[in-house]
Amino acid sequence: MSLLKTIASLIYLLSAVCYVIGVHMMRSPKTARNGNLLSGLGMAMAVVMILVEIISKGQITLIGWTVLFAGLLIGILYGVIRARKVPIVGTSLSLAFSIPVLLDIIIGGITFSGSLIATGKLSGHVPGKPISFPGDKLINGLAVLAIIVAGVWMIGFPSAYWPMVLALLASLIFGLLMTLPIGGADMPVVVSLLNAFTGLAVAFAGFVIDNQVLIIAGALVGAAGTILTLQMAEAMNRSVANIIAGGFGSGDSNGSIGAGAEVPTNIKKTTPDDVGMQLAYAHNVMIVPGYGLAAAQAQHEVAELAKLLTDAGINVNYAIHPVAGRMPGHMNVLLADVNVPYDQMKQLDEANSMFENTDVSLVIGANDVTNPLAREKGNAISGMPILDVDKSKSVVVIKRSMSTGYAGVQNPLFSEDQTSMMFSDAKKGLQEIIAATKGYLD
Ligand code: TAP
Repeated sequence: MSLLKTIASLIYLLSAVCYVIGVHMMRSPKTARNGNLLSGLGMAMAVVMILVEIISKGQITLIGWTVLFAGLLIGILYGVIRARKVPIVGTSLSLAFSIPVLLDIIIGGITFSGSLIATGKLSGHVPGKPISFPGDKLINGLAVLAIIVAGVWMIGFPSAYWPMVLALLASLIFGLLMTLPIGGADMPVVVSLLNAFTGLAVAFAGFVIDNQVLIIAGALVGAAGTILTLQMAEAMNRSVANIIAGGFGSGDSNGSIGAGAEVPTNIKKTTPDDVGMQLAYAHNVMIVPGYGLAAAQAQHEVAELAKLLTDAGINVNYAIHPVAGRMPGHMNVLLADVNVPYDQMKQLDEANSMFENTDVSLVIGANDVTNPLAREKGNAISGMPILDVDKSKSVVVIKRSMSTGYAGVQNPLFSEDQTSMMFSDAKKGLQEIIAATKGYLD
């Protein structure tokens, strides 16, 4: 082994250690930021070492440099050029090489098309409701069959080109059909599952090009993503097996989106002044952040309001639902960014044990995660654990209108006796509440 190869192996080992320790540090919000930095450092070391290796082998050309710094489009061009240099027909590939290639194609294909649909659903370009059509399950079954056929074909003829094409097409179709029927509040589990798949695809790419750092990084992302998927599925009261089988998405097999609830009409509207007064005279306040808080970028205002109340001796906590927002850990990240003390962030079970003693629950841009309809059967969020805000003495909901949340289900909480609605953008509304609260605390 040359000196450079030895150094490279040591650097890769070191960067793998950085990932492992980095991931370990991400277990706690207190150390997560440094853990992220450490993992990034590990990745940077690995990337630099790979560059050094490539340069020392004299493999890099002007086109190569352009490729490295110009992103996906030129990357594809480079891939095509490289692929043309490799004679595919006539070269005998070993099983040890072609099987990881095939697995990489399958997992990568499913992840790619599934992620396109997931992105479309999250951004609103694809309808969020479950999409199905006659025969979709049959096509899904055929896609799985085609993947199996490609695998067997590949074992018999490791150098064959067509099994790879077949596997790619079937995986792309499977990824599409796996994600389209997902709707309601179930999307987070799929986002997390696709994330885990990405890690596996990277790990197999590492086997293909014989790069340990890709194998280790991919395996870590795959393992961490799988654990997160399992935990989210458990938090959502869903089964991962159902997700993979594609029989997933309606929340309740007999239910349909929005079933079981009318648009609440008998609601009480409130004003920033009234909310300020309620907060100033409360002992225990629970802030319930949701997607709307992130959309309005109102995290600074919420932290300012909480500090104002805490400084006045009022007990303030935040109730964090595992799928509030649109990404795993969305609310934790948002609040950590504005230095909300970690001990004020209460996870679902702990928060639920506190609502009975809560004077005011301030629900800011959250909807599905507070919807009591989840306790009933026959709708898109049936069975999903929720924050029991309806148990608090008073509930104030800040949102812009009576629109539904991500799952498309009306929320009967809004018309309950203890609830009042403040229709406003979260940022603007919080600024007005801060001004009003100051008036009552002075
Ligand atoms: P949602 O149920 O989606 O409700 C968000 C509410 O925020 C909406 O009803 C909207 O009402 C309001 N809103 C939007 N912009 C606002 C603004 N600028 N100011 C004030 N309010 C605003 O949110 P949630 O309670 O956080 O629940 C999350 C949902 O997303 C769940 O169904 C979850 O399953 C799903 N989901 C989560 C993830 C992850 S991993 N967290 C991923 C995908 C999907 P108005 O329009 O009336 O203002």
